[in-house]
Amino acid sequence: MPVVRTLVVDHPLVGHKLTALRDVRTDSPTFRRLADELVTLLAYEATRGIRTETVQVQTPVALAQGVRLARPVPLVVPVLRAGLGMLDGMTRLLPTAEVGFLGVVRDETSLAATTYADRLPEDLAGREVYVLDPMLATGGTLVTTVALMKARGAGRITCVCLLAAPEGVARLEQAFPDDDVLVVTAAVDDRLDERGYITPGLGDAGDRLYGVV
Ligand code: URA
Repeated sequence: MPVVRTLVVDHPLVGHKLTALRDVRTDSPTFRRLADELVTLLAYEATRGIRTETVQVQTPVALAQGVRLARPVPLVVPVLRAGLGMLDGMTRLLPTAEVGFLGVVRDETSLAATTYADRLPEDLAGREVYVLDPMLATGGTLVTTVALMKARGAGRITCVCLLAAPEGVARLEQAFPDDDVLVVTAAVDDRLDERGYITPGLGDAGDRLYGVV
């Protein structure tokens, strides 16, 4: 029984912003702003299970029981380059999180994923990790990323994606049948096309965020 769980955030504002992101007429500055806003909405749901500890605070009136984020603080990891467009939207809700970076490139012919940059702690024991990757397409990038983090001892890993394809979700489930891996996304689309693009999707997320460079 796979333990990868996929949460599709069903909210009118999420649908509205995603539809504008899909629109081919949306220019890069607008795309960046909408992606940022959409990630903040996804982050709200993605952090629903975040670890907290109980604290007491003195209000102007009396003592109150409350909670604060538990230590160690969560780690947020945008996958370069398109994941960078999701970083501000995520850290807006988690300003005390630490940020690591992972560069993963996929070969556009074989669709195989390779790691080319790694600025993550060697020891991730007990850390809650939020991976930011806008498009869960074949799943190659996220399988590579999650495997690396699991090898370093990470605790629960939540992948925040603007969009997912059924093929990518299935691949993650197969790769981590016994692990606690969560995918939070605005939609699971129909399928991948022959080039590995999500259909109907929104095109190449990196190009739409930053242009073709
Ligand atoms: N990466 C993208 O940017 N878009 C897709 O549709 C698939 C992978």
